[in-house]
Amino acid sequence: MIGPGLHVYAALEGSFGLEAIEDALPSGTPVRAVSLAEAGSAGSEIPPRADLVVVGCSQAHDQALEVISAATAQRADRPVVVLYHGSANGFLQRAFEAGADDFVTLPQPVGQLSLALEKAVARRRGGGAVAAEGAMITVLGPKGGTGKTVTSSNLAVALTLEGKSAVLVDLDLQFGDIGLALGLPPTRTIYDLAVSGGSLDGEKIDEFLAEHPSGARALLAPLRPDQASAVSISFLREVFPILRSRYDFLIVDTPPAFSPEVIAAVDASSHLCVVGMLDALSIKDTKIGLETLEQMGHDSTAVTLVLNRADSDVGITQEDVEQLLGRAPDVLVTSDRAIPRALTNGQPIVVAEPRSKAALSYGALAHRYLGATARAETAPTTASAESSGAGQRRLRLRRAS
Ligand SMILES: Nc1ncnc2c1ncn2[C@@H]1O[C@H](COP(=O)(O)OP(=O)(O)OP(=O)(O)O)[C@@H](O)[C@H]1O
Ligand SMILES: [Mg+2]
Repeated sequence: MIGPGLHVYAALEGSFGLEAIEDALPSGTPVRAVSLAEAGSAGSEIPPRADLVVVGCSQAHDQALEVISAATAQRADRPVVVLYHGSANGFLQRAFEAGADDFVTLPQPVGQLSLALEKAVARRRGGGAVAAEGAMITVLGPKGGTGKTVTSSNLAVALTLEGKSAVLVDLDLQFGDIGLALGLPPTRTIYDLAVSGGSLDGEKIDEFLAEHPSGARALLAPLRPDQASAVSISFLREVFPILRSRYDFLIVDTPPAFSPEVIAAVDASSHLCVVGMLDALSIKDTKIGLETLEQMGHDSTAVTLVLNRADSDVGITQEDVEQLLGRAPDVLVTSDRAIPRALTNGQPIVVAEPRSKAALSYGALAHRYLGATARAETAPTTASAESSGAGQRRLRLRRAS
């Protein structure tokens, strides 16, 4: 149950949802209900002591989005739950983009709304009634050079810029280059951790992580290929859950193969991100990769497909790609000289050139995961392909508090 002393601020269209909110909360819980217009008006502040914000509207409402944005901007640790009626369509996505934690369609059976509110509070407090476990996203692609490292490093930093904690593990144990991509000196690597002896715990692992100025952390690949064999599957199976318990997102970069350590990462993951490139050989390998994941029991809805260099003029159209792969890519990344330029400078493009098309695509990718993890316990959705401009607003939202 939500504990005593919780203060709730409800911004409602008319009195939409007020009765349901009061029924869902323990009796005596103070609820300050105001109109959406009042809450969204210029200069209006949500009381700092409000621990939970509920926004209720019977239909898509711009003022509701403004209140959600203001609530998260004023206090990043404060959960926001949206109550709605009817078909949400694009409003759901916009509400999550604005920073909502959960989205509940009314009416709901007794107890359902209580559960949603309870989960939202527990999640933001990082514990409570619901155990917090971060998402684990393994970035893979069976062909070399498709853009896995660029994708995983930009994804980790983009999530960090959204105010989430993210750690990147370089599982390309022989030739990993996350250190180069993020400009991090390999003072300590996964090899050093693997041979350090003694038991593993979160504080110990943290000592072996490099930190990017954005706040993203990374467990870097061994310095030399011969050190790779020191990293065993059983070691990885211990490391992954510890990192998931400490970070909102664990991102894993992989070599271009279904090696045993990649399979271990795929098995431990909550989400997968396949990076393919727009050329005939890569499309063929991507297709085989997607089929392999399906054979391993991973439903295609858990797999995000990134098509890199999607604008390359190689005689393959988007329609061809869709037909060959049997699905549309979820995120398109254009060819952009800014990417190798940023790599040369040891910076992810989302930091080096945040307004470039490629950076906006990685922002959109991060946003998919933010939406997917926020919705994970409500309704899984499959978003349609996002254009390279889709993340434009995102980078301004939900900065670290
Ligand atoms: N969209 C893009 N536009 C321009 N250059 C790109 C793009 N994506 C990747 N590259 C370049 O392609 C090269 C390979 O990218 P990256 O290292 O991310 O691939 P990878 O899949 O990790 O490779 P490997 O399989 O060897 O690990 C890099 O030099 C990078 O700068
Ligand atoms: Mg790589």
